[in-house]
Amino acid sequence: MGILEKHGVIERNATLLLVSSLLVVTVGGIVEIAPLFYLENTIEKVEGVRPYTPLEITGRQIYIREGCYNCHSQMIRPMRDEVQRYGHYSLAAESMYDHPFQWGSKRTGPDLARVGGRYSDEWQVGHLTNPQSVVPESVMPKYGFLLNATIDATYIEDRLKTEALVGVPYTAEMIAAAQADFVAQVDPNADSSGLLARYPKAQVRNFDGQPELTEMDALVAYLQVLGTMVDFSTFQPVASR
Ligand code: HEC
Repeated sequence: MGILEKHGVIERNATLLLVSSLLVVTVGGIVEIAPLFYLENTIEKVEGVRPYTPLEITGRQIYIREGCYNCHSQMIRPMRDEVQRYGHYSLAAESMYDHPFQWGSKRTGPDLARVGGRYSDEWQVGHLTNPQSVVPESVMPKYGFLLNATIDATYIEDRLKTEALVGVPYTAEMIAAAQADFVAQVDPNADSSGLLARYPKAQVRNFDGQPELTEMDALVAYLQVLGTMVDFSTFQPVASR
């Protein structure tokens, strides 16, 4: 009996085919998945990647609440057209503290993985308030109401504790200082040395230009840090070191 005929036996017997397929998928699955349980870490650590500041993580919550991910991904794939348009392809380490991560390919609008620093705060506020004033044909909704939504640091400690629970390395010191760090980041006159020691290179300024601390401040602070933590002028992937 040739190999094709032998296989014909399996193909003609539904039960045998089902059981055999199950067996193949099980073995394949175990081979792929089992090693992951024995690896210390599947993500290569990259210099510069740090947990979000209390203000940035609040902005991230607003980003998720408003469903920005329905139109924007945060994952630059290693293909030439994407890299030319958006910058260095995304590293796994860059979203290692993202719960939930914002990968995807749903791009009604551009990818935002490296939008940090690409535009000024004024541009961001103006665009979020009225996207059509910048791009007349834009289908992006208006988010100007964020300018009127004042926020305070009431729940920020709990937020960091929750993140720590799922593995983000927020230390006891970071949690204790969360309320102070939250407000220090939007106040250029405040002493931000503690904030900067805990969150290197954190950007400190009044993000929305208003005296009040609003959801717009938090969202813009978050957008401005996206993709800026790793210094790609010195970064080298492990494979090419
Ligand atoms: C219905 C789809 C949609 C939603 C929801 C949406 N956007 Fe957009 N966004 C777009 C489109 C389309 C563009 C490109 C045209 C433009 O600049 O307005 C865009 C552009 C942008 C840009 C400029 C990016 C660049 O590189 O030029 C930023 C920043 C941005 N959006 C942020 C946000 C944020 C933050 C939210 C949530 C608060 C959001 N968007 C929600 C569709 C959307």
